[in-house]
Amino acid sequence: MTDLFGGAAPYYAKYRPDHGDQAIEHLARTFGPDGVVLDLGCGPGTVAIPLARSVGEVLAVDPDEGMLETGRALAAGVPNIRWLRGDSTRLRELPAFGHIVMGRSFHWMDRRAVLAELDELLPPGGVVALVGPGRQPVEEPWEPTMRRVREEFDAYTFTATDSFQASGEHPHDVLATSPFSDLESTMYEHRLTYDVDAVIGLQLSYSYSSPARLGDRLEPFKEAARKALLALDPSGTWEYTDLIEVLIARRPAG
Ligand SMILES: C[S@@+](CC[C@H](N)C(=O)[O-])C[C@H]1O[C@@H](n2cnc3c(N)ncnc32)[C@H](O)[C@@H]1O
Repeated sequence: MTDLFGGAAPYYAKYRPDHGDQAIEHLARTFGPDGVVLDLGCGPGTVAIPLARSVGEVLAVDPDEGMLETGRALAAGVPNIRWLRGDSTRLRELPAFGHIVMGRSFHWMDRRAVLAELDELLPPGGVVALVGPGRQPVEEPWEPTMRRVREEFDAYTFTATDSFQASGEHPHDVLATSPFSDLESTMYEHRLTYDVDAVIGLQLSYSYSSPARLGDRLEPFKEAARKALLALDPSGTWEYTDLIEVLIARRPAG
């Protein structure tokens, strides 16, 4: 698992939308100013970097060296993030933490096993937080067009084994039947503007259409994507409002 995202990290950092200030502030309020928070599947620090301003310490953990390298560079000067190579199967090797957040990463894991282990590792009052698209993700306006281009290039296999898409089981349902069954969901609107280069960069941030996955078809892919996008809308600019969910899961009181 050295480079799971196949060279996607710089594109991820630049073109994947962040979760927006409101979602980060919600997480910060939940964890508190002294909280030590594990950001599991941290990628290039999408959650870790803005969260670190308002909590005690963030342990930013990811199996992908490219993601960690990009995150470390972006966070230069942020003193309270520890970047650690690890994954959901090696939680016991990590320093102690008081809460955990997973941003768009829970679906990569054996979710039930992770929650059972977290029940042993998190202190009383420890929170499991998810941040990302909610139950009804908003499809980007270019997505049907880009899906066709990815299919043309055979770059559209969803690779997460325990995903909602693969198992049909939504994370809410997995959490609701776990030790962390007290759930509180909050939705935030996040307005975004994308141009053609940003939409192409976004495609290269996905594990299934990463630069490594496309190999020597990278340039033809970019060309085909550009042509299809300008045929979709010659202005080459799209605005849309994404919906971000912050899901807070606690052990039930008593
Ligand atoms: C889509 S990115 C999410 C990045 C960031 N947290 C965010 O909110 O955008 C998913 C990340 O999960 C990581 N990942 C994949 N399998 C994992 C596992 N078993 N344990 C921990 N992280 C994993 C990947 O390397 C990738 O960086």
